[in-house]
Amino acid sequence: MQAQDFIPQSKLETIDTGKVTWQSPSNIALVKYWGKKENQIPANPSISFTLNNCKTITSLEFTSTKDSEKKSDLFNFEFYFEGQKKEDFKPKIYTFFERIVEFCPYLKEYHFTINSENTFPHSSGIASSASGMSALALCIMSLEKQLSPSISEDYFYKKASFLARLGSGSACRSVQGKIVVWGEHEGIEGSSNLFGVAYPNEVHEVFENYQDTILLVDKGEKKVSSSVGHNLMHDHPFAEERFKQAHKNLAALKEIFKSGNLNEFIEIVESEALTLHAMMMSSNPYFILMKPNTLEIINKIWAFREATGLPVCFTLDAGANVHVLYPEKNKTEIFQFIEDKLLGYCEKNQFISDSIGLGSKKL
Ligand code: PMV
Repeated sequence: MQAQDFIPQSKLETIDTGKVTWQSPSNIALVKYWGKKENQIPANPSISFTLNNCKTITSLEFTSTKDSEKKSDLFNFEFYFEGQKKEDFKPKIYTFFERIVEFCPYLKEYHFTINSENTFPHSSGIASSASGMSALALCIMSLEKQLSPSISEDYFYKKASFLARLGSGSACRSVQGKIVVWGEHEGIEGSSNLFGVAYPNEVHEVFENYQDTILLVDKGEKKVSSSVGHNLMHDHPFAEERFKQAHKNLAALKEIFKSGNLNEFIEIVESEALTLHAMMMSSNPYFILMKPNTLEIINKIWAFREATGLPVCFTLDAGANVHVLYPEKNKTEIFQFIEDKLLGYCEKNQFISDSIGLGSKKL
């Protein structure tokens, strides 16, 4: 498919007013997306586990402005976060609308009220852009479905992921599926740079309901945003090798998902997390998003794994928080270890218990 395939072709119905609500989860990448080309095309393919508990719930109320004095050439919307009107969130949404209007020309014909809330604390340092942008994209697609009832389910979800990607790259991996691939990869049929696809190959039962305990090491605002970080991959001295490595790691993960070899899984996942941060540390200008307690936790995980042989590992996204990943069958012993040895490194001992989820849901 090409981007142009997402421009509506048929004549749209007339709908005056309505309301739709979606919930959409966050996701945690195993092979990381870091670096992009124009129009949010990823520099390398990535793959993630969809989360179950960290979600955004967004409702979109729409009223046609066709015959009203509100009709204008600008986007017309109010944004509320957890019940409060938020002017400071509006520019991000405005930019999102500007990027997608070519594919959703009806956006200028409505006044929207957007209400959004997260199931996790906003100031937890957990990025809400993946869940937030995918929830909003899904709401927009529900409006499009009313305007164009003949669109297929497949088109609906592909376009929702396509739109979410234009809001925040990793958001395209939050729409549908437990494990999602985004970015063309020679070994994964149907993979695309334009949208995320549910991982189509065999997955060993050890990954069923895989656990992710998110340790909230630092709940503050990040010093360097992901978009600045992605940009620093242009002219990065190690960029080309990194992009090749991501292809190789994804090919290796394909075998691991089939075999269920957790030692190999751990090696790829931890190496990906550290490589992501190594890219940040070797950018120009360089920066560090890990905190001392991030490293304390990593060392404790390594020591515990060495001592017990239990298959626990970590991954990181663009921040200091640590995602601790492990199979459901080892939950009791590993969670005990987390409680005894790791929570002390978290801000106010805070953490989020999560596990693999199915993706978004219409409410
Ligand atoms: O979606 P963005 O632009 O916020 O980038 C997210 C990048 C990482 O979380 C670091 C990696 C990933 O693949 O999710």
